[in-house]
Formats: sequence, structure tokens, C-alpha cells
Amino acid sequence: MAAVRVAVLGASGWMGKVHTMAFRTFPHFFGSDGGTAEVVAVVVNDPAADPDLALRAPGARILTDWREAVADPDIDLIDICLPDTLHYPVAKAALLAGKHVNCEKPLADTAAEARELADIAAAKGLITRVAHGFPRNPVHDIARDIITSGEIGEVTLFKGCQHIDVFGDPLAPFMWRADGAKAPTGIVGDTGSHVFSFMEFLVGRVQSLIAENMVITPKRPVVAGAGFGAGAGAAASDWAEVTNPDATHMLCRFENGASGIVDFSRVATGRKFRQGYEVYGTKGSIVYDYDETSRLRLYRNDDPEGRRGFRAVDAGPDHPSYRAFLPLANLGLGYNETKIIEAAEVVRSVVTGVPMWPTFETGHHICQIVDAVMESARRRAWVDIGRAG
Ligand SMILES: NC(=O)c1ccc[n+]([C@@H]2O[C@H](COP(=O)([O-])OP(=O)(O)OC[C@H]3O[C@@H](n4cnc5c(N)ncnc54)[C@H](O)[C@@H]3O)[C@@H](O)[C@H]2O)c1
Repeated sequence: MAAVRVAVLGASGWMGKVHTMAFRTFPHFFGSDGGTAEVVAVVVNDPAADPDLALRAPGARILTDWREAVADPDIDLIDICLPDTLHYPVAKAALLAGKHVNCEKPLADTAAEARELADIAAAKGLITRVAHGFPRNPVHDIARDIITSGEIGEVTLFKGCQHIDVFGDPLAPFMWRADGAKAPTGIVGDTGSHVFSFMEFLVGRVQSLIAENMVITPKRPVVAGAGFGAGAGAAASDWAEVTNPDATHMLCRFENGASGIVDFSRVATGRKFRQGYEVYGTKGSIVYDYDETSRLRLYRNDDPEGRRGFRAVDAGPDHPSYRAFLPLANLGLGYNETKIIEAAEVVRSVVTGVPMWPTFETGHHICQIVDAVMESARRRAWVDIGRAG
């Protein structure tokens, strides 16, 4: 079976490095039964600024215009790791050129754009995937099994959050993530979309919601070349306006009647990375916290009187995606392993023609939630999510 030929777009950035590693590495853990991949091209803005590029993707052609990759007949899969506003135009051009597409989240800036992408992919019979890697940690398959098997009864409440503090310091430098021209929905599409992917994976589709968006720090210092983790910009003379939300609180109602309480923030001072959910049902509940990446807490009403309480459920080698990496439970899978699982699944989909969650259809559902959050915050009112598509 020939290797799937991949072009990684934005290969010098955080996700570009992770995806390049993941496509090159996954057969080491998963073997070649689901196919293999070769990173044949990388697209970057400035190759001279990234001397290790050829080391990370040996033999790959180095391009500076994504259009070249999209037009290349010797590329099967376009892997989009570019800033948010480029997702839609690049994915659309790639699909129209007949390429399979793996796209970082959020799939598009609006649900209408996401709908168009999903429709083009369906019409052309192409494999699509949105890189919501977090729920592909095997521990969440266990959570989903617990929920769908009815073990915790009917789900009544989902509570979810994702908190980071990259902008917790008011002097943290401006970057594209705070720029509404490059990331129109700010924290909502950036981090909210991760929480929404868990909601879709574990509970189902959201029907209506009300949300409040907040800009906590209206201006940030401009420091040339600054990104995540860059030093504070106290000495900067130039300041840029933050033109998208820093944090969001929201309430929602799912189609199945469950309710949701969700918040996410990039200004949660001290929370370097906090992600978690609690799913309450009529017979029990489950709790997940990223501090223990391979462990759920499960409570069951039918445990004997006097023995009730949350017990640990550890993902382990009985799950194939866990076993691929580790022979013992509770050794723990991390962020990059989840992205390796994602790359293995994307390639398996391309090779077999069988789509795997989350496709562009899911990306569209998530963009509908993002749109509704932006509208609700603007109107200060509950918003119903349309059912078209
Ligand atoms: N799934 C996740 O867990 C996760 C985590 C972080 C980021 N993301 C998403 O991944 C995407 C990239 O984020 P990142 O953190 O890697 O950002 P980043 O700023 O580290 O990388 C983006 C890269 O794209 C390059 N670039 C910009 N325009 C380009 C163009 N026209 N042609 C070629 N290269 C171009 C930049 O120079 C930069 O190297 C975003 O959409 C973000 O939302 C997802």
C-alpha cells in the first residue's frame, strides 16, 4: 500500500511541528495495517527563519505558497495548521482540487463557511477531519461507552471548562490569537471549540444557548515575533487593541434535554492548562480532569450503601489506542500521543475511505455553537441553533 502523501501547511508553527511529527511517527506505534504516510511537502512563510525544517521533515519539498501544495497532483492530503482565518479559503481550494483535508480547529470562521466545506467534501467523496484531538484520548472513549451504554442513566447536566493563562498577565504580548482580523471569534473558536468537541462527543448536539463574552485586557503590547510563552512586553512602545473575546461563560440546552454549564478563558491566571468535564446522569456520573489524562472518576448509584463514592477508572492496554503506546494502565498518555492517534486515524480514513469522527460535519456543528455564542453575547439573549444541516 503506497504511503499517503501529506503536505503540512504552517509547518514552522506549534501545530505544524506536532502534525509533521505525528504523520511521520504513527506507524512506529500503530504499524502499517491502517496505511502509512509520507510528509512530501511543508509550507512555511519564511524557510530561512526555521533552519531545522529539513530535519523535521527529511526529503520534503519546502514551499512558501499553500497554493502550490493544493495544485500539486502528487499530494493526497492537505494538512492545515495555519491561523484560523486561513482555514476556510485553504480547505475550500484543497477540496475543489480533489484533496483530502485534515484541518486544525476551528474549521472555519462561521458555520456557513463550515457548511460549504462539508458540502463540497460530500459532493466530491473526500475524507475530511477537524483536528479536535483531545477527545481521541482513549479515556474519553471509555467515558462515551459509559454514557451510551446507559450506565449513568439519562444525562441531565454537562459541566465543562478549559482555562489557560497565556494572556493572564496584562503585559503578555499581543499575538494573532487576540486579533479579530486573524481569529474573529477569539477564545470561543480557539478554546471553546475544544469544550464543544467534548460536548458533541459525549452528550450530543446543542439546541440553544446563552453566553457572555468578555475582553479582560483591552490593549496589549506589541513585541516583534512574540508568540506563546514570550516575555512580558513592559518596554514596548506600540500597543494593539484586543479585538476578540478573552473569556466566555455560557449556559446551554442539548437536543436530548440535558443542560450545560460551560466556561473557557485565556486569562485564567495561574491555570497553565486546565481542561475538564463532569457529566451527571440519573444513575451516576463521571468526572474528568486533564491533570490525570488517562483517568476518569465514576460514581454509580447502585454501588452498595456505605460503599458509594467516586472510583478511579484508568484507561489501559485493553484499549487499542492506549496499548499502541503503553503496556500498563495509568502510565498516562499526553498531548502529543493524542495527536499521533489523530494522524493514524486520518491516514486510516484516507486509505479505507471510511470517515472517522470528527469530520467536517462535526466541524460544522461546532461552528454553529461558536456562531450562536457570538450572537448571544452580542444580543444578550438565548439563541436557538438552526437545524439546517
Ligand atoms: N488542536 C489543538 O489542540 C490546537 C492547539 C494549538 C493550536 N491549534 C490551532 O492550530 C492552528 C495553528 O496554531 P499554532 O498554535 O500552531 O500557531 P502558530 O502561530 O504557532 O503557527 C502558525 C504558523 O503558520 C504560519 N503561517 C501563517 N500564514 C501562513 C501562510 N500564508 N503560509 C504559510 N505559513 C503561514 C506562521 O508563520 C506560523 O509558523 C490554529 O488554527 C489554532 O487554532 C490547535
